[in-house]
Amino acid sequence: MQLSDRAIDQADNLRRIVEPKPLKIIAISSGKGGVGKTNVSINLALSMAKQNKEVLLLDADLGMANIDVLLGLNTEYDLSHVVSGERTLEEIIVEGPSNIKIIPASSGISKMANLTSAEQAGLINAFSELGNAVDVLIIDTGAGISDTVVNFCKASQDVIVVVHDEPASITDAYAFIKVMSRHHNVSRFHVLANMTHDVHEGRNLFKKLSKATDRFLDVILTFAGTVPFDEKLRKAIQHQRAVVEAFPRSPSALAFKRITRQIDSWENDVSRSTGQLKFFVERMIQSDLLQSTMIQSDMTQSGMMQSTPQQEPG
Ligand SMILES: Nc1ncnc2c1ncn2[C@@H]1O[C@H](COP(=O)(O)OP(=O)(O)OP(=O)(O)O)[C@@H](O)[C@H]1O
Ligand SMILES: [Mg+2]
Repeated sequence: MQLSDRAIDQADNLRRIVEPKPLKIIAISSGKGGVGKTNVSINLALSMAKQNKEVLLLDADLGMANIDVLLGLNTEYDLSHVVSGERTLEEIIVEGPSNIKIIPASSGISKMANLTSAEQAGLINAFSELGNAVDVLIIDTGAGISDTVVNFCKASQDVIVVVHDEPASITDAYAFIKVMSRHHNVSRFHVLANMTHDVHEGRNLFKKLSKATDRFLDVILTFAGTVPFDEKLRKAIQHQRAVVEAFPRSPSALAFKRITRQIDSWENDVSRSTGQLKFFVERMIQSDLLQSTMIQSDMTQSGMMQSTPQQEPG
């Protein structure tokens, strides 16, 4: 028996309601601070939004949450107000350019382990209500390897490590990858070279880093691409705008667009792909609870962050 078009449409609609949309979760990290994570997060988020994706951008840098400042937005509340019940998730979300939604997370996110189970359930529910409306979640993490950064990277499907051409940036990126892989079971990283000065610099940085990781670590490193040093990006910052909005034909804006297209071709890591926002929040909560145990075990393994200087960078 042939199904009518109408029946097929109905079945499609039903499937859309029942099956959550696949959600890509990307954490933007770096070993060293100041390498461009926040600008990368914002500009990738906006480039994806311009591809008609629904993008959620989580400002999770506890030290210096500044996406709102860079985009000239007013944020009065953050995730801690959702946790305390003073505000709903909808109320703290700020609308950015190209309809991206920004969640100021700052302090709230670090307190997940201390929540009562009712508070945890409330948070998971709040996020799961957003679930079907989001295609991509981008997380601007802080620099380095704090517990929160570790948790975000573990709860994400993909981790972008931003580097630039400075010895400390490469050794810190190596140390970050080493700790994430050896102690936290994250083995896939995408390396993005920022502020490059010629066409070869990004690839060369990637080669330098992957030479060390290939030799000493069991990880898969891929090259996410290069964003050139661009005065227009700095000019855009002065105007509290993202470069892809303010100067869409500038070298850095074009690079962000190229990288966005490349991200579309990243394969989903089935072992980490969970596709739903509420699972992401659940993983965050679980990681946070586990964290104290992890730290203890890490500390007993002396030399966690120390590498043998003659053998390994970082
Ligand atoms: N492609 C670029 N071209 C020129 N300047 C850049 C570029 N990317 C970043 N910058 C400069 O680097 C500065 C730091 O960038 P950003 O705030 O994004 O770094 P971050 O890694 O988020 O820093 P933090 O670790 O403090 O959070 C920017 O204010 C800007 O001046
Ligand atoms: Mg930042």
